[in-house]
Amino acid sequence: MSAFAARYGPWALVTGASSGIGAEFARQIASRGVHVVLVARRAERLAALAHEIEGRDGVQTLVVAADLTQDNAVDTVAERIGTRAIGLLVNNAGFGRSERFIEQREHNYDRMLDLHCRAPLLLTHRFASPMAERRHGGIIFTSSTAGLIPTARLAHYSATKSWGHFMAQTLHAELRHDGVDVLSACPGPTDTEFFNDGESHPSKGSRIIRWQMTQPSDVAHAALAGLGRTTVVIPGLSNKLIVALLRLVPAHFIGRLTDRAMRKVMQARHS
Ligand SMILES: NC(=O)c1ccc[n+]([C@@H]2O[C@H](COP(=O)([O-])OP(=O)(O)OC[C@H]3O[C@@H](n4cnc5c(N)ncnc54)[C@H](OP(=O)(O)O)[C@@H]3O)[C@@H](O)[C@H]2O)c1
Repeated sequence: MSAFAARYGPWALVTGASSGIGAEFARQIASRGVHVVLVARRAERLAALAHEIEGRDGVQTLVVAADLTQDNAVDTVAERIGTRAIGLLVNNAGFGRSERFIEQREHNYDRMLDLHCRAPLLLTHRFASPMAERRHGGIIFTSSTAGLIPTARLAHYSATKSWGHFMAQTLHAELRHDGVDVLSACPGPTDTEFFNDGESHPSKGSRIIRWQMTQPSDVAHAALAGLGRTTVVIPGLSNKLIVALLRLVPAHFIGRLTDRAMRKVMQARHS
């Protein structure tokens, strides 16, 4: 058994595993010898990934098709998991859309709050205690550089990602004596289906975003390499540099700066 499997096995639970960063988390965790529970809404996508992983890595998978914005979704996921011991929880499912706050539909705000905050809160609360009792485990929150830098035109998204980032940091401090590692993964723009929500790719209008663009496999790899070693991972040199530079800018100016940048990106995408 690998050191990773001994510390974070026997089972991992990955939300948002049907595409992008979550699918890469599932592949890379399985390649380290840990069985994987795959959660998202699109059952066929999950079944195809399960087939791929089982064939290649010889681990077990469990597919749970669930909409995590629904009230009882976390209970349903937990029931399907049964007695399988979750040693690694990856709170990754999410979506985003750049819009002025007052133009976003209320329905989307609720869904985002449920998916980015309520579901990870309930999943973490449910699985952290057994990890602490077993004296080993790991929890990853997929936050964002927008969770580190207040980003205008992504106001609610930025705030919910900041929630995940703060949860990771505070839980790391609380759980480290119990042998449970907690990490905030903060990707910048990453080449996934995240941008397929009726809009053209953001790199179309922005050289900076093209420069920042990261691959989902690199995000998952950086996060898994950082787990147990550090508490915050920002994948990609360009993203690290941008976050470091923006942290030097006075707080009142950051909102204005990101508003200008995002307005340009949105104009280019809609032109
Ligand atoms: N791509 C980026 O530029 C970027 C940058 C920073 C942070 N992130 C974060 O990275 C995470 C993964 O995003 P991604 O880039 O990999 O995008 P993606 O390819 O669109 O993946 C999003 C995943 O979330 C799942 N999901 C969405 N709504 C769900 C719901 N109601 N219930 C259950 N699962 C749901 C989707 O599956 P189904 O549709 O099958 O349900 C999919 O598996 C998100 O939290 C996002 O905020 C992304």
